[in-house]
Amino acid sequence: MSADLSLLPILETARLRLAPLTAQDAGLIFPLMGDSEVMAFWDMGEIDDPDVITNIVAGQVDEMATGRAVYWAMRGLADTQFIGTCDLSEIDRRHHRAEVGFMLGRDAWGQGYALEAMQAVLAYAATTGLRRLVARTHLGNRRSDALLEKLGFAEEGMLRGHVLRDGERRDCRLFGLLL
Ligand SMILES: CC(C)(COP(=O)(O)OP(=O)(O)OC[C@H]1O[C@@H](n2cnc3c(N)ncnc32)[C@H](O)[C@@H]1OP(=O)(O)O)[C@@H](O)C(=O)NCCC(=O)NCCS
Repeated sequence: MSADLSLLPILETARLRLAPLTAQDAGLIFPLMGDSEVMAFWDMGEIDDPDVITNIVAGQVDEMATGRAVYWAMRGLADTQFIGTCDLSEIDRRHHRAEVGFMLGRDAWGQGYALEAMQAVLAYAATTGLRRLVARTHLGNRRSDALLEKLGFAEEGMLRGHVLRDGERRDCRLFGLLL
């Protein structure tokens, strides 16, 4: 099934505007994915080649066209400054479930922006009929774990050696939320 990208939702919160990601946003994501601290608990290390980011974002836009994901670029409502991204991916309409993700530039951490954005994403997910959301964090990603718990997710298990990064297997926590 293909989705009309122009129909994807723009979400607004008290401080943020979440608009569906476009290929043009790749240049804004580059400084985030190039930051080793932002990428410390990601499945891949920081990326220093802008072409790789361009390809990742193009892949995400393609995924949106299939209806299997929505990626949003997060900007300040007042100043339109780019803050980060968040997403619903692995959307499974048969089982009414999806996975959530989020990434903010380091300057934007510690201000409740991720919480605010994800509350809007969860509310949107519920309106589309999704009933279960999952998230996966690398062991030690305290900020992400805390965010998920604030959103009501519960830890459901440990995925041992789930990720192979830089030659080492990493354990991940699995979180779930029933809407
Ligand atoms: C995960 C991530 C999005 C969390 O960002 P965050 O800013 O810590 O998350 P929140 O939006 O929940 O903000 C919480 C913090 O804002 C503070 N805060 C300030 N104003 C606030 C407000 N109005 N409302 C809520 N919290 C507020 C809280 O006290 C808390 O601060 P603390 O961490 O010092 O205790 C961010 O660390 C990140 O981008 N990490 C790298 C990418 C990553 O790992 N992604 C997840 C992969 S699974």
